[in-house]
Amino acid sequence: MANGVIFNDDYPGIAQSDALYQRALGLIPNVTQTLAKGPSQYVNGVAPKYLAKGKGARVWDVDGNEYLDYNMAIGPLSLGYAYPKVDAAIKQQLEDGITFSLMHPLEVEVAELLREVLPNAESVRFSKSGADVTSAAIRLARAFTGKDKILCCGYHGWHDWYVSVTTRNRGVPQAVRDLTYTFNYNDLDSFRSSLDGNVAAVILEPVTFTEPKENFLHAVSEICHREGVVLIFDEMWTGFRLAVGGAQEYFGIKPDLATYSKAVANGMPISMLTGKHEIMQLNEDDCFFFTTFGGEALSLAAAKATITEIRDRNVPAYLDEQGKKLRSGYNAIAEKLGLNFTRCTGYTCRSLVSFDASAGDPLLLKSFVQQEMIKRGILWSGFHTVSFSHTDSDIDYTLRAYEEILPILKQAVEQNSVGDSLRGVPVQPVFRKTTDFNTKPVAGVER
Ligand SMILES: Cc1ncc(COP(=O)(O)O)c(C=O)c1O
Repeated sequence: MANGVIFNDDYPGIAQSDALYQRALGLIPNVTQTLAKGPSQYVNGVAPKYLAKGKGARVWDVDGNEYLDYNMAIGPLSLGYAYPKVDAAIKQQLEDGITFSLMHPLEVEVAELLREVLPNAESVRFSKSGADVTSAAIRLARAFTGKDKILCCGYHGWHDWYVSVTTRNRGVPQAVRDLTYTFNYNDLDSFRSSLDGNVAAVILEPVTFTEPKENFLHAVSEICHREGVVLIFDEMWTGFRLAVGGAQEYFGIKPDLATYSKAVANGMPISMLTGKHEIMQLNEDDCFFFTTFGGEALSLAAAKATITEIRDRNVPAYLDEQGKKLRSGYNAIAEKLGLNFTRCTGYTCRSLVSFDASAGDPLLLKSFVQQEMIKRGILWSGFHTVSFSHTDSDIDYTLRAYEEILPILKQAVEQNSVGDSLRGVPVQPVFRKTTDFNTKPVAGVER
């Protein structure tokens, strides 16, 4: 019998998942198209590898096991799987066609909707992936300023200009690598010291899991304005979650450009670039940013239905409420047990359970908790990515699972048996180096 979202007696059977995995090995490099969905992020041998179905906040793997999902497709499922209003909009559009030989009215309708809800959306363009729009933003910033260098601080996609600063930069020419630099979040000195007269743009996620300190975002915005540097907010995670108008609205800062995808269409592939008209209008002539599926209508129909629902039902307030219960509930359990090496931090709409090294290898500790969450029917990789479909009873059940798991984690730590308790290969870091390091564009200094 397949497992459910209950206190199961055993770990789930994953024979079908593993059979598919064997077929993919050697055929699909990395076996995954999305790093965070791949087996490196789950205890290999315990966790399912392939999902076949979703409804609300629940998913079913190919072996028929049911789980409560806290990854929500790495962000896109803001409302929940198979959300009726969005699916109806997609089905209705499907009757008329997917993509066309001329423009589609939804391009105008969704652009107008974005102008209503996003503070900086004087002008709007659509594309398909997050990396498309962050890269388009970078090109526009270079065109607008006539400068070349980019400063960033976080993850912004797979394209050359960004990946050059990570540890996986093979294949990116040195000339490109020499143009992107990084600064540390919440470290104004690091930011200032990375700026020089040839910086075209600063791109950052307004927040990840840490709050901006001492007006960091406002200070960055002010310096960019003063120095003629284009400020780009990468709102893949914050958009439509932190507030309807994303971090722009939440922090009261209007960046020159902003980029969105994930939450905006409840799972359909679409991304958005919004910004000041004077910068965006460079697309009219001088810059080139066009793609075959940019105006694809199913995703636009899904975006229209999703944004309307998020706005009309005040979804960010709901995410905040449910996320708060998870974050404070987890921390209360850990504190009561005296587990000082683990806490849940971050914003309520997307919080993070992390482990420090004082109790052992954090990746082993995370693997242990994941293994036990999976046994209890919860698909978990350290994040609480909350959706509009996570109910009160889902949150209660999750906290009850933590109440059962954290004491056995404590015992395993005390007995130094965390590694031995794992029934598979532990999880790996999500990406080796994408944040909190500082590379400065100082003339003559080797990188
Ligand atoms: C903050 C941020 N920016 C950009 C991207 C890239 O988006 P995509 O994977 O759709 O290209 C991601 C993806 O996870 C992201 O989290």
